[in-house]
Amino acid sequence: MSNAEEVKKALVQAADAARFAPSIHNTQPWRWVVQSGELRLFGVTERQLTEQDPEGRMLLLSCGTALHHAQVALEAEGWRYEISRPDTPENGPLAIITLTEREPIRPEATRHFQMLQVRRTDRRTVTDDAVPESVLTFLTKAAEEGGARLHVLNRDQVIELAVAVEQSQKAQDTDERLRAEMANWVGGEREDGTGIPASALPEELPLTTVAERDFQAKGTLAAGGGHDRSATYAVLYGTGDDSVDWLRGGEALSRLWLTAAEQAVSLLPLSGPVEIPSSRVALREMLGGLGWPFLALRLGSLDPAHSAPPKTPRLPAGQVIEIVD
Ligand SMILES: Cc1cc2nc3c(=O)[nH]c(=O)nc-3n(C[C@H](O)[C@H](O)[C@H](O)COP(=O)(O)O)c2cc1C
Repeated sequence: MSNAEEVKKALVQAADAARFAPSIHNTQPWRWVVQSGELRLFGVTERQLTEQDPEGRMLLLSCGTALHHAQVALEAEGWRYEISRPDTPENGPLAIITLTEREPIRPEATRHFQMLQVRRTDRRTVTDDAVPESVLTFLTKAAEEGGARLHVLNRDQVIELAVAVEQSQKAQDTDERLRAEMANWVGGEREDGTGIPASALPEELPLTTVAERDFQAKGTLAAGGGHDRSATYAVLYGTGDDSVDWLRGGEALSRLWLTAAEQAVSLLPLSGPVEIPSSRVALREMLGGLGWPFLALRLGSLDPAHSAPPKTPRLPAGQVIEIVD
């Protein structure tokens, strides 16, 4: 195989592996173009939640998780690469990956790659075993290596988060257009390869201090009888509020999530309070005004007796990857 063919194959495989990435309401708002030895990532506004996410922040976070998944796939094949993230794309690419050289495959790269298929959003309650301090430190480091920060909330701040979540949920429940948009993406069997199926949603919302997002759709997942007393809540944030910061925030989210999965820690994103301006301000205050909140997160220990929740669907490769010869 010529070098050019080898590079093309690696780039297509990376884009394919990125299909496993988590995204807001499983919208998968990305598209890859493999051309002239480059892998270009584009945001897809047709799959943007225009009511819930008019500024496209959740779209950028989601594209960032896909970008990091592609990096994990390349590293698992021993590829080194460079990434440029053009500043204000205006229909241009959000990121361009070029391969540089090959190195021996590192065992942690293989482990990370295995996590792409294992990681899920688990909306069931967590166990009574708190995530150990040492693991939280390790996860905080993973977020930082990914280019963001993680602020672990103290008890009082957890109550403030609960209030912010409630406020944002109320704002969403009373907005007809938002509810209609959500109904398009959530619930039922999801045969088009996008959205959140009923099988990934709890039958009933568990009674927790910080409420999970109420998707207003009937779920079939047994949530478990637990609470969130032993859960840890945190805010993933960055030092800037530009498009590139949100993209990098998504890369950090992916890195943190895969690391958490490796440590048997469940991570549940709570994006509601970031989407509503007033509750986002409350989150920002928890950071002492020093950063820009990307997401609130629930971290908890997984119940070893629970098998993983079912996989959510993904779009076929042909719909998200374009190969230009
Ligand atoms: C930016 C972002 C925000 C999200 N917000 C929420 C949320 O508020 N509540 C929730 O239950 N899941 C949330 N999710 C999880 C997605 O619904 C989930 O990733 C998607 O349905 C795909 O399922 P999977 O993660 O199991 O592969 C979010 C994911 C991302 C990437």
